[in-house]
Amino acid sequence: MDAKTRFLNACYRLPVDKTPVWIMRQAGRYMKPYQNMRKRYSFLRLCQSPDLATKITMLPLKRLGVDAAILFSDLLIPFLGMGFEVKYKAKIGPQIKPSVRDEKVMETITTPDPERDFPYLRQSIKQFNKKSKGYYPLIGFAGAPFTMASYLIEGGSSHQFQKTKLMMYQEPHRFKRLLEKVTAVLIDYCQFQVESGLDAIQIFDTWAGCLTPLDFREYALPFARQIINSLKSYQIPTIYFLKGSSGLLKDIFKLGTEVISLDSFQELSEARKLLGPNVAVQGNLDPMALFLPKDKLKQRINSILEQNGNQYGHIFNLGHGVLPTTDEDQVSFLVRTVHEYSNPK
Ligand code: CP3
Repeated sequence: MDAKTRFLNACYRLPVDKTPVWIMRQAGRYMKPYQNMRKRYSFLRLCQSPDLATKITMLPLKRLGVDAAILFSDLLIPFLGMGFEVKYKAKIGPQIKPSVRDEKVMETITTPDPERDFPYLRQSIKQFNKKSKGYYPLIGFAGAPFTMASYLIEGGSSHQFQKTKLMMYQEPHRFKRLLEKVTAVLIDYCQFQVESGLDAIQIFDTWAGCLTPLDFREYALPFARQIINSLKSYQIPTIYFLKGSSGLLKDIFKLGTEVISLDSFQELSEARKLLGPNVAVQGNLDPMALFLPKDKLKQRINSILEQNGNQYGHIFNLGHGVLPTTDEDQVSFLVRTVHEYSNPK
């Protein structure tokens, strides 16, 4: 069975010869070749050069043996077509300017034209598909509206999301207007990528786990649903990821994605029980488990595989992105172990 069939079958809960595996943030900083490329080019330059982006997208296929590639790009790329400046600062993370907390800025947000503003995404997708000769699936991605709006409001990464929640509670109408604008942009952005030749798409609602279930249902779910629904006619699997999903799984299930990506804070078997048989799951090894000695790491991997048991519809992954300080050899070991030990019926 080739990697593409293995991955897509798992998304659709069909039989596989072994459990497919890929790693969130697999194309990146813990790899020597990436570090070398970064000495010569800025991060954005890598994202916007199809030759380089394709090369990075393919690194984990050759070096780790994963079953799927994720397009090398960034969550914040859509902002570049909306009139914002995005700067990636070492140690601090991304900075987005100007701030949408300024009422005037909110009114001047522009709607990107993907053909004009993100042509490199289409070129990278096409180049990947040519080079992989259809053997490997390509996953594209985008942020979900709440997570993207939180970046615009905070102006960068955040722990508490206080500015976001302040706007949400004190100016709910304005907050919803922002969500509507962002949603419209993301629908175009996702459709453009899918039409360029993706095999699957993952929607990162990473930070919506900071919301109470009530607020999640009002400010995150309906907007994420619009994105998912806008992709239904393309008949490719959609994957939804949220960090801190355990109290929200029943709501997340209603989104109707083929796959739900689980964080590490809940046992996979428990999530399976809650979700029932009609959705595939992805996950959910703690990214820090890659720092365990190999025998202990192997136990953790096997525990997840055993929790899934014989059910179809499991894609092995981490509960969140691989950390930059991870030893690449440990990641290779993870991939080999999943392939050797998994034995779906
Ligand atoms: O998964 C992959 O390998 C594909 C590429 C990918 C990147 N970012 C490359 C990247 C993906 C899928 C992302 C998603 C992303 N980007 C998210 C959601 C993912 C999640 O973890 O839930 C978010 C929140 C971002 C925004 C972002 N981009 C941040 C916060 C940062 C800085 C902090 C960090 O983790 O480095 C980035 C930069 C970034 N995105 C890098 C890479 C390889 C590092 C850039 C560098 O080389 O300096």
